[in-house]
Amino acid sequence: MGTYIDILPVAILAIGALLYTLNSRRKPSLPLPPGPKGLPLVGNLFQVPSELEWIKYHEWSTELKTDILHLQIAGTHIIVLDNYEVAMDLLESRSSLYSGRPHLVMMMELMGWGFNFGFVDYGEQLTAETILSVAYGIQIQQENDPYVQLAEAANEGAIIAAVPGKFLVEAIPLLKYVPAWFPGASFKRKAREWYKLTRMMVEVPYADAKKRIESGNPAPSILLTNLQKIEEGVKDDAFTEDVLRNTVGALYSAGSDTTVSAMATCILGLLEHPEILKKAQEQIDAVVKPGHLPDLDDEPSLPYVTAIAKEALRWRDVIPLGVPHALSADDEYKGYRLPAGAIVLANGWAMLHDESIYANPFEFNPDRFIDPETGKIDYSRARDPAHACFGFGRRICPGRFMAFESLWLGIASLIATFDIEKPKEKVTLPSGEEVERTVELNHEYKSGLVVWVHFCSPL
Ligand code: HEM
Repeated sequence: MGTYIDILPVAILAIGALLYTLNSRRKPSLPLPPGPKGLPLVGNLFQVPSELEWIKYHEWSTELKTDILHLQIAGTHIIVLDNYEVAMDLLESRSSLYSGRPHLVMMMELMGWGFNFGFVDYGEQLTAETILSVAYGIQIQQENDPYVQLAEAANEGAIIAAVPGKFLVEAIPLLKYVPAWFPGASFKRKAREWYKLTRMMVEVPYADAKKRIESGNPAPSILLTNLQKIEEGVKDDAFTEDVLRNTVGALYSAGSDTTVSAMATCILGLLEHPEILKKAQEQIDAVVKPGHLPDLDDEPSLPYVTAIAKEALRWRDVIPLGVPHALSADDEYKGYRLPAGAIVLANGWAMLHDESIYANPFEFNPDRFIDPETGKIDYSRARDPAHACFGFGRRICPGRFMAFESLWLGIASLIATFDIEKPKEKVTLPSGEEVERTVELNHEYKSGLVVWVHFCSPL
C-alpha cells in the first residue's frame, strides 16, 4: 500500500506471524467491531488505500452497516469512528481513556517530531491549552515568509507520516534499526531528510528571535516577551527555553498549513460560485463603512461571511481523519471489545458529509446555515461543522478560535476588496481561430493528514 512500504518481505512475514500467533491465543469475551476481512498475518495492510483513506473507511462502514469499524494492520488495531454520536460517546464522554496519541516511530523517533506536544501522549507535558496561551500571538505577515516556507517544507513529511499505516515501521518498530543504506529502507532516508527540516523549523525562528532581543530592538511578540521573562529569571515551569522553543515550533506546524488550506477551500468555493461572492460583497457593502476593511466586531452583522467560512471547513475539511488518538486501556462499546493500544480515528469527513445533516453534502452551499426568514446563522438547520473539523475530547484543537478568526478575517477582507474569477486561457481551434476559454479548476485533494485542494497545493 503506498510508496513507503518497501521493506523486506521476510521481516514482514516473520514478525507478522509472531504477532498473529500471539493475537490468536487470546480468547476475548466480546468480538471486535466489524471490519473488512484481511489476510492472514498482515491483516488489512494491503487493503487500506494510500490516499483518501477516509472515503474507503466510510464505504466499509456503510457496507458493513456499522458506525464503528475495526482494521488490523500487521498486529496494530485501528478503530474508525464513522459518526458524530460514536465520536462523542468515546472521545468526549470517555476522554480519560481516549486522549492518548499513538507512538509514531517514523515521526517521533526518526523524524524528530518529539518536540511537538500535539503528537505527544496525554499527560506527558503541559496541556496544549496552557502552552498555547503562553505563546499565542505569533505574527507572520510577509509574502513568501521564510518561516512559513520552512514550516511548510517540514510539515510535508509530517502530514504523510502521521497517517496510521503509511509506514510499516509503525507496525514493526524493530525496522527502525535497519540501516539507511539497506536495500528497501527508503523510509530511513526519507526520515533523515525530514529530520533536518524539522530541526530547522524549530531552531531557526528561535535563534532569530534571540538575535532580535540581543540587537536591542525586538519586534513585539509573545515569543519575545517570554524570552525576556526567561532572561529576567521568572520562576515558572512553563517558562523554560526548551518549552518555549518547542511551543513556537509546534504552533508553526499546527497553525500554518491548516488555516491556509481552509482559506484555499474558501477561494475554490467562491471561484466556483460567483453568485455567492456577489451576495457576500453586497452584505459587506451594506455593513462596513467605505474605505474600511471588515473586522471581528462586524462578524455578528455579516452572517453570510461566517456561513462561507463554516461551509469551507465542512466542504473540504482540513484534517479528514483528525489527529490519531490512542486507547489507553481495554474498553467495551455497543457489545464490542476495543483493545488497549488501538489507534482511534474519528472520520470527520464522514460526519461532515452526512447527508442526513447536510443535504447535498458535496455542494458548496453556505446558505445551508442561514435561516431564510431572518438571514441569520441557524445551526439547527445544519450542524455547526466545528463539531467535527477541530477534533474531539481533551485533544480538541486548542487553536480553533484563533483559526476561525483568522479564516474569517482573511475571507472577509478578500471578499471586501477583490473580484475573483477563474483564470482564462487562449486555445487555438482546429480552424486556426484563437478563442478564450475559462480554465476549469481541479477539485482533488492532496492527500495526507492535512489536505489541500490541488489548485493551490504548496507541496
Ligand atoms: C482551520 C484550521 C485548523 C484546523 C481545521 C485544525 C484542526 C485540528 C484537529 C482536527 C486537531 C486534532 C484534534 C484531536 O486530536 O481530536 C488539532 C490539534 C491541534 N491544533 Fe489545530 N487546527 C487548525 C488550526 C490550528 C491553529 C491556528 C493552531 C495554533 C495556533 C492549532 C493548534 C493545534 C494544536 C497545538 C493541536 C494539538 C492538540 C493536542 O494534541 O492536545 N491548530 N487541530
